[in-house]
Parts: sequence; C-alpha cells; structure tokens
Amino acid sequence: MTKRSQFVTKTGVIAATVGSAVGLGNIWRFPYEAGVHGGGAFLLLYIVCIFLIGIPVMLSEFVLGRATHQNGVGAFRKLAPRSPFRIVAYMGIIASVMILSFYSVVAGWIMEYLFQSIEGLFWNVDAEQYAERFAAFISNPWRPALWTLIFLAMNFLVLRRGVEKGIEKISNILMPVLFILLVIFCANSLSLPRATEGVKFLFTPHFEELSASVVIGAMGQAFFSLSLGLTCMLTYASYFSDSTKLTQSAVLTAILDSLVAILAGLVIFPAVFSFGKTPEEGPKLVFEVLPSIFAEMTGGHIWSVAFFLLLFFASLTSTISMSEIFISYLVEERRMERQKASILNTGVCAVLGVLCALSFGPLSEFTICGKNIFDLFDYVASNIFLPCGGILLSLFAGWALDRAIMRNQLTNDGRLSARWVKPLRFCMRFIAPIAICIVFIYGLL
Ligand code: TRP
Repeated sequence: MTKRSQFVTKTGVIAATVGSAVGLGNIWRFPYEAGVHGGGAFLLLYIVCIFLIGIPVMLSEFVLGRATHQNGVGAFRKLAPRSPFRIVAYMGIIASVMILSFYSVVAGWIMEYLFQSIEGLFWNVDAEQYAERFAAFISNPWRPALWTLIFLAMNFLVLRRGVEKGIEKISNILMPVLFILLVIFCANSLSLPRATEGVKFLFTPHFEELSASVVIGAMGQAFFSLSLGLTCMLTYASYFSDSTKLTQSAVLTAILDSLVAILAGLVIFPAVFSFGKTPEEGPKLVFEVLPSIFAEMTGGHIWSVAFFLLLFFASLTSTISMSEIFISYLVEERRMERQKASILNTGVCAVLGVLCALSFGPLSEFTICGKNIFDLFDYVASNIFLPCGGILLSLFAGWALDRAIMRNQLTNDGRLSARWVKPLRFCMRFIAPIAICIVFIYGLL
C-alpha cells in the first residue's frame, strides 16, 4: 500500500480544518439563512447546535478518521466490515457531489464579482442598480455556467497535486488575512447610519417567530458550516498525525468558524438596513449588499478586490475538502489513479454544477416542491443528508466503536488528560443523536 500523506505541522492541521469549515457557508450562506429565518433566534439555535451537536459529531469523525487512516468507506471496512453503518460513507459521497455542484456556482458568482471589482464596474452606480445587475447576471444563459466551470477547473488543478502540498500552504496564509479583512469591514458597517437595526436583528431573538423551518435551518447551517456529516472531517482526520490533539482542534475549529459567521453577519446586516434592503432576500442577499458596502468605503475598489480574492480562496479550501471525500474513496477503495479520480469528480460536478447555475436562468421554471435545482440540492444535502450522516456517525462512534479506541484517540494514547472522554462519549451516544432526531421530528410535525 502506498504511504498516505499527512498534514505536516500543527498549525497546518488547524488551518486545513478551519480552511474546510470557513468558506461560503459562513460568509454567504449564514447571513442569508439568518436573514430568511428572522435573525436572533436563528443565531442562538445555530450556536447551540454548533456546541451541542457539532462538536460531538466532529469528534466522532476525527476519531474514526485518525484511528483508521482511511477514507470514509475504508474506515467502516476496517472497523466494522459488514455493519449497515457504512451506508453513511456512501451517503457522504453522494451529498459531497451535490454540495460541490451548487457551491461551485456560488464560487463562480464570487469570481464574477472579483472580475467586476478589478474592472471597476461597481463604481458610480446607484445602490438600487446592484440588485438589478445581479439579477441580470444570474439569469444570463451562459455566464454563471462558464464561471462554475472555471472554478471547478481551478479546484481540479489544486486537487491533482494531493493534500500536503496544496491545502496546507494556502490555508495557513489566507485564513488569517480573511479574518482581519472581515474585522475591518465589520467596523465599517457598524459606522453606517442604521447599523443598530442590523445589530438588533442579528442579536435579539424573537422566539414567537420560532418555527420548524428555523430550527431545521439552524441545524443544517451548523452541519454545513462545520463540514460535518459527510465524512469530510473523517477524511481530513485520516491525514492527522498521532500528536494532533483532537478535542482541542475540534473546539478551536468550532469557535473560529462561528466567529467568522457572526462577523459576516455584522458586516451584512447593518448594511442591509442602512441601504434600505430587507433581510429575507435569500441566496442573493450578500451579492446585492456587498458592493454597496465597498462603494461607501474609502479605497473601496482595493478592498473589494482583496475581499473577493480571499473569498475565492476560502471557497477553494472548502471545495478541496469536499472533493477529497469522493477522490480518496476512488483512489483507496477502487485503486484509481489520483489524476483520474480528480477528473471523474470534476466531471460529474461540472454537469450538475451547470444545471445548478442555469436554475436561476433558462431552467428557472423547472422546480421540484417549489425549489429550483440549486435550492433543492442545497436543501436536501444540508438539511437532510448532513444531519442523518451526523446521527449515524455519532451513534457508530458512541456505541459500536471499541471504547479503548475512542479513549486512545481522544487522549493520544494516554498522553493527554482523559477528563473529557466520558462527557464526550455521552454526547456521542445520547445528546447529539437525540437532539438531531428531535429537530427532525419537530420539522415533520
Ligand atoms: N463548511 C464549508 C463552508 O462553510 C463547506 C464545506 C466544506 C462542507 N466541506 C464540507 C459542507 C463538507 C458540508 C460537508 O463553506
């Protein structure tokens, strides 16, 4: 068997997992979901889901990944060859392809905006026109599809080189810079005239508005944002070294990831209210609001180029992690060459991605349950596949996995304190699966 690669440095591990977690999920999806679902109550539930469900599920994935040093399917083959739990690994592959497809469309929108920023097309335009322009762009029959393909091609170029060369380096440098930029934009948004309304919207929970869709949305967002439920983190953990501290890495990833989401909310919502928009715009929200924010800033041109460039890289570090699920399966279980596996992954996503890209234009009439293809992929993958994957992964880690393996993984073979092992295992066995089930049942009622 060929030697598997590993992340080399300690910061590399954190940067890679945070790189996977932080992406369009935080900066595009979180504000729009929070906007649709009423703000404060959504944020609160999201945070609760991150800590109560997210961390135990992430640790389940970490433990399974590092204990086996295998891809998702391989991990189950090694630990429980005939157990029905292994279906979670196949579900992960399907969902990863679905997510990668619509995600690439949004990453393509980012590239269009980067291009427009460089060209200076955002300036000397009325705030009103940003929305019209964006609507014209996404309904264009070829431009969004073309960007989707260009993005997938770039994703492919990084993938082909393998884990340790590409991902670690990119993430190490770019994530901290993105964070600093967000802090600057946040300060700027907070100085806008109606900023307090935005802050109130995000932080004041109105529980009377609580509904099934808010609860399911918040849980789906927590899973999506932490890259959970698809064996994505399992696959990444299979590249961890024996000295990586799993609990510490999971908690740090969860904290940094939610921090970025909240910062993004603090950039977007004050601007939403100040520029007279409504928060319920959906997937378009961020794209209609951001240009107005930059137009307000001194040196806005440079800020916007820098921001879209970084967001592009943040998307790339996330899509690389998603692609790794299918590719590591093909390479390790099907003995396919890495190059071929990357081509297959990119090819499938290119076809589905173009369908998603066209679903705001020529295919907008084609809907299932009132959702176009793009929304459907997002809804089904994030709100159903990911949480179901989360239930199975935590149940497997909590009940089926040998206790000694769990203990050894969480304590690095006894070198770290075992204080957290019991409570964490309890969360994996009971709290996380029951909480996910309750949300589902609540949603169905
Ligand atoms: N978490 C990433 C984001 O917020 C998206 C992502 C990467 C993802 N890998 C994943 C989502 C695996 C679900 C599963 O942008």
